[in-house]
Amino acid sequence: MVKKPSEVELDLLRGHDVLSAKTLSFNQLQLIMATAAYYEDALVNKRRLYDMDGKIMASLFFEFSTRTRLSFETAMQRLGGSVVTVSETPQMQTSSTAKGETLHDAIKVVDGYVDVIVVRSPIKGAAQEAADAADHPVINAGDGTGQHPTQALLDIFTIIKEHGRIEGLRVALLGDLKYGRTVHSLVYFLKHYDCDLIFVSPEQLMMPEEITAELRSEGIKVEATTDLRVAVAAADVLYVTRIQRERFPSKEEYESVKDSYIVSDEVIAAARPGMSILHPLPRVNEIAVSVDNYPGAAYFRQAHNGVPVRMALLALTTGNVL
Ligand code: NCD
Repeated sequence: MVKKPSEVELDLLRGHDVLSAKTLSFNQLQLIMATAAYYEDALVNKRRLYDMDGKIMASLFFEFSTRTRLSFETAMQRLGGSVVTVSETPQMQTSSTAKGETLHDAIKVVDGYVDVIVVRSPIKGAAQEAADAADHPVINAGDGTGQHPTQALLDIFTIIKEHGRIEGLRVALLGDLKYGRTVHSLVYFLKHYDCDLIFVSPEQLMMPEEITAELRSEGIKVEATTDLRVAVAAADVLYVTRIQRERFPSKEEYESVKDSYIVSDEVIAAARPGMSILHPLPRVNEIAVSVDNYPGAAYFRQAHNGVPVRMALLALTTGNVL
């Protein structure tokens, strides 16, 4: 049985929000990884858990979500807790925000009902705004082009599971590095490990300069290229992202880059042995379906890792790891 973290370690996240990968320390990151491994062991061995018995999670998704919302809700239920949900997007406005209520007021109200709040919004900075209004912990499930720290945590958990380590690996991030929030979070976790980064994107979709500059100033080895083949020949991990159609200012701009890279069997044939392929999903067409048969194709395993990682986040931030 995997050991539960000590009381002293558990104090590292009790009562904390999880808003950005930038503000989580390496100790907090390691605690989340250890606690996720502890819960994964419980899931694999079908141990019934009551850590969040009697607790309620608010699931506030103001933007479409399948994996993130369902894995958070599954995580809460696996911990014996329950969930209240608001699911609305600009296409499906049904309640308070459609009536003009501010996020601040909505969160103030929900905060009085529940023990932990999970929020997704199309607006960068919305999770911080929610956290400012709430007394209970707020977890950012994606804020526009900003951050998506819980996805990046499950990405780190996946790399460790697939490779046994992160130190010394070459990690290539491919696709929409400009608008993709998962990579904006992932690089801030990867920088804690001694690994090299390769950014592969069309010129128009490069990683924001302030992020690249910050990583370089901290001594992280970052290479940027437009050539997928160069990256694949060097990478141990290929992290593929979707071109974020909904974030483009115009349809023409999206059309001009949408099929920039397709990871096909031919591309994989030139990969280093043992290369893993990750993708936060949903996939559009950036990975050919035939690549799913490649042993290193880890994206569905990665999606499943969302449950133990989110169990860890819910139990740690509320101080309920029993
Ligand atoms: C990602 C997101 O919402 O940012 N999806 C997810 O959470 N699994 C990536 C994406 O939508 O492309």
